[in-house]
Parts: sequence; C-alpha cells; structure tokens
Amino acid sequence: MSKEFTFTVGIITVSDKGSKGERIDESGPAAEELLKPVGGVMKKYIIVPDEREEIMKAIIKMADDLKVDLVLTSGGTGFSPRDVTPEATLEVIEKHVPGIPEVMRAESLKVTPKAMLSRAAAGIRGRTLIINLPGSPKGVRECLGVIIPALKHGIETLRGEASECAEKH
Ligand code: MTE
Repeated sequence: MSKEFTFTVGIITVSDKGSKGERIDESGPAAEELLKPVGGVMKKYIIVPDEREEIMKAIIKMADDLKVDLVLTSGGTGFSPRDVTPEATLEVIEKHVPGIPEVMRAESLKVTPKAMLSRAAAGIRGRTLIINLPGSPKGVRECLGVIIPALKHGIETLRGEASECAEKH
C-alpha cells in the first residue's frame, strides 16, 4: 500500500489591521481548511504588517528554520501603496515559478476582472515553495483550488522524491 502524501505548510497573513488585532483573519484558516484534506499539515501561522522586512523575515524563518514544504502568503499583492508582498517575496526566492501566478490570474479572471490587478509572485527557496495569494478568503479559496492539482508533484520534485514528469496513461 502506498504511503499517504503529506506536506508541511506555513501561512503568513500580511495585513496591517490583522497584525494589530483590529481585524480577524479569515484567509489563513480558509487556506488551512483547503489544504488539510489533501495532506497539508500546518506548522506555523503568523500575521505580519505590510512591511517588506517583516514579510521577508517571516518567509525566511519558515523556509530556512522550519523547512516547511509550502509557504503561502495572503494579502498585500494589489495596488495599495502599502502592498509589498510580491516585492518581499522576490527578494528572498532563489528561483521564480511564474506558472503558478499565471494560472491563478487566468482562472481568477473568469470570476472577476479585478484578478488582473493581482501582482502575486511564486518561487523556490531551498526546498520550499512560496506562493502569494490574495487577501480575501474568497480569493484564497479560488486560487488554491487552481494550484492544488499540481502541488503534490511540485513538492515531491522539490524534495527529490520524484524525477519523472511524464504522465503514465
Ligand atoms: N483573485 C481571485 N481568485 N478572487 C478575487 O476575489 N481579488 C482581486 C485579485 N485577485 C481576487 C483575486 C483583487 S480585488 C485584488 S486588489 C488583487 O487580487 C490583490 O489582492 P490583495 O491586495 O488582497 O492581495
């Protein structure tokens, strides 16, 4: 019998109000709820303000110290002057993974034209995959739904457990 696939997850909610306790974060729990049934094991959940340095520090901690398989950020990907999540992410990744935000935007565009306003990025640091998601729980659900089918293969490849990309028919 094959072992059930599990992977570790860190969630960073990026929100000025959330970090001050002025808003209850629903996006982090929404992401956890979607990932649990597909093997996601939550290791760390933090809320940081929309500050480049704090976002970078949080991603580095999760990737380098906790060594989670997947880091999801939520929020800070739009046009507001305080939105700096993609910039912080791009500063700490070692490899770009453009396909993930490309597909998230393409699929989200079917739901809302505002999807094109997302500046979300994704990339790899060490053996950790980092993905920016929008701030709303609705956006988190819609974008994660698009990513989940490719997640297992991506994580297994990052871990060095899968080398074959060819599908067996
Ligand atoms: N993507 C999906 N799937 N669903 C959404 O509701 N909202 C958009 C976009 N992407 C949205 C979405 C909006 S309104 C904005 S401004 C950008 O994501 C950035 O959101 P953020 O600033 O909360 O990260």
